[in-house]
Amino acid sequence: MTSTAAPWWRDAVIYQVYIRSFADSNGDGVGDIAGIRSRLPYLKSLGVDALWINPWYKSPMADHGYDVADYREIDPLFGTVAEAEQLIEEAHRLGIRVIPDIVPNHTSDQHAWFQAALAAGPGSPERERYVFRPGRGPDGAEPPNNWLSVFGGPAWTRLPDGEWYLHLFAPEQPDLNWQHREVRAEFESILRFWFSRGVDGFRIDVAHGLVKDPELPDLPPRREPESDGPRQHVDHPHWDRDEVHDIFRAWRKVADEFPGDRTFVAEAWADTPQRLAAYVREDGLHTAFNFDFLMSSWDPKALRAVIDDSLAVLGAVGAPATWVLSNHDVVRHPSRYGRMTVNQWVANEPYRPEGPLDLDLGTRRARAAVLLMLALPGGAYIYQGEELGLPEVEDLPEPVLQDPIWERSGHTDRGRDGCRVPLPWSGPAEPFGFSPDGAAAPWLPQPADWSERSVETQSGDETSMLELYRRALRLRREHPALGDGTLTWLDTPPGVLVFSRAPGFVCAVNLSPEPYRLPEHASVLLSGDPVENGLLAPDDAAWLAM
Ligand code: NOJ
Repeated sequence: MTSTAAPWWRDAVIYQVYIRSFADSNGDGVGDIAGIRSRLPYLKSLGVDALWINPWYKSPMADHGYDVADYREIDPLFGTVAEAEQLIEEAHRLGIRVIPDIVPNHTSDQHAWFQAALAAGPGSPERERYVFRPGRGPDGAEPPNNWLSVFGGPAWTRLPDGEWYLHLFAPEQPDLNWQHREVRAEFESILRFWFSRGVDGFRIDVAHGLVKDPELPDLPPRREPESDGPRQHVDHPHWDRDEVHDIFRAWRKVADEFPGDRTFVAEAWADTPQRLAAYVREDGLHTAFNFDFLMSSWDPKALRAVIDDSLAVLGAVGAPATWVLSNHDVVRHPSRYGRMTVNQWVANEPYRPEGPLDLDLGTRRARAAVLLMLALPGGAYIYQGEELGLPEVEDLPEPVLQDPIWERSGHTDRGRDGCRVPLPWSGPAEPFGFSPDGAAAPWLPQPADWSERSVETQSGDETSMLELYRRALRLRREHPALGDGTLTWLDTPPGVLVFSRAPGFVCAVNLSPEPYRLPEHASVLLSGDPVENGLLAPDDAAWLAM
């Protein structure tokens, strides 16, 4: 692909493919690369610029691929390296770029390095690639410090030989030691392996976790988040440490060895927009997920503040903003926005829904939210299924839950399976075209009423979420005001957000309880629901030509 004056990633719309749940070609009930290839025409007609594909590498799947045993192999569940190359080539032919996930914070416990470390024993050079330590207490029976696994329980596991190893996630995901020269060299080599096979970039898993304080000090007591006052960065022994940027400076050099604007997007949960901006610099990463937008409740002041802060802080370092509403780790946004109870959501901590759900309300807001997101300056991410308006599946039976969080939390947190249910493509009954006829059941059961939400049912129905996404993406591509650039807020009554973008474009979002009269001389290009008598209904948004 050729470079253009403004690199493509500054305003790309990137579609997240959660590979296990996208499309299953071989009938084992799990999505795969051939399934993605078969659905490329769908993605083309949806109108996205690129795909981010969750980890496809060889893995025992303790965390659905975020436990990588071999970074240069594709897991047989998903296909082969040759198939990945075919996918990249076919996507490129359609003008769609491909960005796999890379998982540098930890490997699988089945990775050759970790197996060698186990075999070599305490004090060996093999153990230095990970974080092994003796325990505390008279017989070393207590973990080396009080760090906690993101998935619940302590972040340390003890081996029969008495040593402990660190895992910020599941015990099957031992953390690498990024102070080690070989770890750095190995990942640069893995990047080159996949760049040479044509990938257009990487989504970097847990980018903010790679570097730990070498002293491994205990975590300070947890502070309750303050609901008002400016957010503050607090020095943390394993999240978002300054030294992490050295690693990404080296990665940038690797990306720049290859032609065609290869790009990185960081999964980095930072305390403040300023801390997030530190990841995206001319000699660092290109973009980072803007989780502040995703974590914001459906509240005009909160959304406006996130938008202003993001644009100001990222703009100051010359980076484009990114916008994201959902992903494979969070409750799907129609189910978040359809709740009256708004929980305080803290970075690096899960959000779980509480209180009764009004899915019609959540869906209306989701329609408005995507119009807001796609009108903002910068790039945007779409999580597979959000274009179908899929809600969180909150009633998966306990025996089918697979997310390690369910076990690790002692069955107190149901985890993330509810946003990972396989997509409904067509037909009246499970597997709704996700798998071929006669296939094994999908790896998670699909709700019986998902035929109403399938691609087949929604296609051509002008009132559907899918057609709204298609129209919005088409307009966004065609309209000269959309994509990269700036916005100007217009004066509005409380609860209504309206901004203009030159030339001649206005986006209005009504978060107030009253209908909002759209500016005169505006013609509606697109709206969540039909605009009647010039009035924008509560929880609706419209794109206007001025
Ligand atoms: C973030 C990923 O998005 C999530 O799915 C995974 O469990 C953790 N990182 C650990 O790799």
